[in-house]
Amino acid sequence: KPVVVPKFSAEDDEVEADSGKTKVAVFFGTQTGTAEGFAKALAEEIKARYDKAAVKVVDLDDYAADDDQYEEKLKKETLAFFMLATYGDGEPTDNAARFCKWFTECKDRAPWLQQLRYGVFGLGNRQYEHFNKIGKVVDEQLSEQGAKRLIAVGLGDDDQCIEDDFTAWREQLWPELDQLLRDVDDANTVSTPYTAVIPEYRVVIHDPIVTSCVDSYLNMANGTASFDIHHPCRVNVAVQKELHKPESDRSCIHLEFDISGTGIMYETGDHVGVYADNCDEAVEEAGKLLGQPLDLLFSIYADNDDGTPLGSTLPPPFPGPCTLRTALARYTDLLSPPRKAALIALAAHAVDPSEAERLKFLSSPQGKDDYSKWVVGSQRSLLEVMAEFPSAKPPLGVFLAAIAPHLQPRYYSISSSPRFMSHRVHVTCALVYGPTPTGRIHKGVCSTWMKNAIPLEKSHGCSWAPIFIRQSNFKLPADHSLPVIMVGPGTGLAPFRGFLQERAALKEAGVQLGPGLLFFGCRNRRMDFIYEDELNNFVEQGVLSELIVAFSREGPEKEYVQHKLMDKAAYVWSLISEGGYFYVCGDAKGMARDVHRTLHTIVQQQENVDSSKAEAIVKKLQMDGRYLRDVW
Ligand code: 2AM
Repeated sequence: KPVVVPKFSAEDDEVEADSGKTKVAVFFGTQTGTAEGFAKALAEEIKARYDKAAVKVVDLDDYAADDDQYEEKLKKETLAFFMLATYGDGEPTDNAARFCKWFTECKDRAPWLQQLRYGVFGLGNRQYEHFNKIGKVVDEQLSEQGAKRLIAVGLGDDDQCIEDDFTAWREQLWPELDQLLRDVDDANTVSTPYTAVIPEYRVVIHDPIVTSCVDSYLNMANGTASFDIHHPCRVNVAVQKELHKPESDRSCIHLEFDISGTGIMYETGDHVGVYADNCDEAVEEAGKLLGQPLDLLFSIYADNDDGTPLGSTLPPPFPGPCTLRTALARYTDLLSPPRKAALIALAAHAVDPSEAERLKFLSSPQGKDDYSKWVVGSQRSLLEVMAEFPSAKPPLGVFLAAIAPHLQPRYYSISSSPRFMSHRVHVTCALVYGPTPTGRIHKGVCSTWMKNAIPLEKSHGCSWAPIFIRQSNFKLPADHSLPVIMVGPGTGLAPFRGFLQERAALKEAGVQLGPGLLFFGCRNRRMDFIYEDELNNFVEQGVLSELIVAFSREGPEKEYVQHKLMDKAAYVWSLISEGGYFYVCGDAKGMARDVHRTLHTIVQQQENVDSSKAEAIVKKLQMDGRYLRDVW
């Protein structure tokens, strides 16, 4: 029977209050769907194990309409689990941002959550500086507010196998829950082993002569709508061009979305979320592997008791009816390595027993090493894995619900300013393209789409994509006379191009600008010095006081932005000391971490203080919002 976990709603509260069952809330803060998937899996398992439990899965954004409601509702919870991903620079996911802000700000009050027992499982990646920050903070905060921790915070690490971390955390949880949710009568009985049910959507095939496709994005551009991750707006590609010079063997795309007449508004420094299509090659391959024609017209439904279509709960709205081609192109992630849960679902549909065995082994605790080498280590895509198990042809409803994750939007720091061009959103995107250990050429979904996009200037049959804006706090100072220091190598330049356009517009309007320094880095002037002419123009116009470029592959030694920063340590520090702002954009794991260390060293040397004092000064800059990072 297909399993679909219904959404939590206010009415559920009332119903379950009388049922005599113990209410369990499983909250999730998710960006790419993993935390949500874990929340649903946890809820299913709690339900299966404990008759007494009335379990709900709750999107933190849907939990409360305003902050007062958070308080009111949380006070009534007695048993809750939080599946919380940490994202970007130690930030909460978008859907958990409001909750986290409110919850961490209500620190200075008497403990008010004594009625609550809880467990937190964090999702993060050890490669990043703020590993699982959100999970840790919420866990501590809940305890400080008097809630009783049932189980130590789980620190899921996506750099290794986060599903294993989740399984291990759950195993620790059951003995605790047995005490709380098992009836006294059966306290001594051994619980039957739990096997996860494979989720499945109900698929209805349509006759193409009678039914036509529905495009869910078409009617949304009404000028007043507010667009978000669940309600993206369809926009055309107006301009697309290559930024690298012919000598380069890599590619970086400049793309402009035409947002005129859509009502989309953005600010300099914001991000744009883009839903790109998978390339035709991948879609065709997927169709073959599933053994289904791409023009198959169908709708999917959840088997909710009230028969409501599942489409309304999927981000972005899965349109129905749509063709298999559209479904595969727009809604499924075909190129990431499959999760273990996907392998289990594939195994259930493998006709050849040896294939089923191998798939089960790969997803089992004994097959851990094989999974990490054969799937993750060799970056085998879902399609590659399916191709190795040709007897496994899962039905569409299983493929869409349990095997192929939803294709996620990709975020880009907008590289334009609305003050310069209010009807365009510019994106600067490096092409992701390269061989994997199996010899496959991995092509990033969105960057490949951008590389192949046809702009309106070339054809009326131009490319389009559903997009939405995500606000950020990466902004120029309100006082434009303050100095700004920008560090952005490679595509880390993107938001600073927006900053510079904004400064140019301000200057034009007669505003007095403070000093502006840009540290840019690339491999070689003749290859990847993107927007070179524009940047030089900004210097000529006095919008940029200094453009400092580190070329990493021109001389015998690598020159990076942080080396250039160090060369100018005294000047940089004097500008910051005057109230200046320090911005970093780009790769979090390498560059931003190294620049952070360099800033620390600069403070230590210039202020002549020890390391811990320097640390405190840097922290203070961060707290004051004068050291801002837009990193990925
Ligand atoms: P590299 O590829 O030659 O090592 C934009 O990608 C620029 O950032 C390139 O010149 C790249 O140099 C450089 N870069 C790579 N790692 C870096 C790091 N840890 N700190 C600063 N710049 C780095």
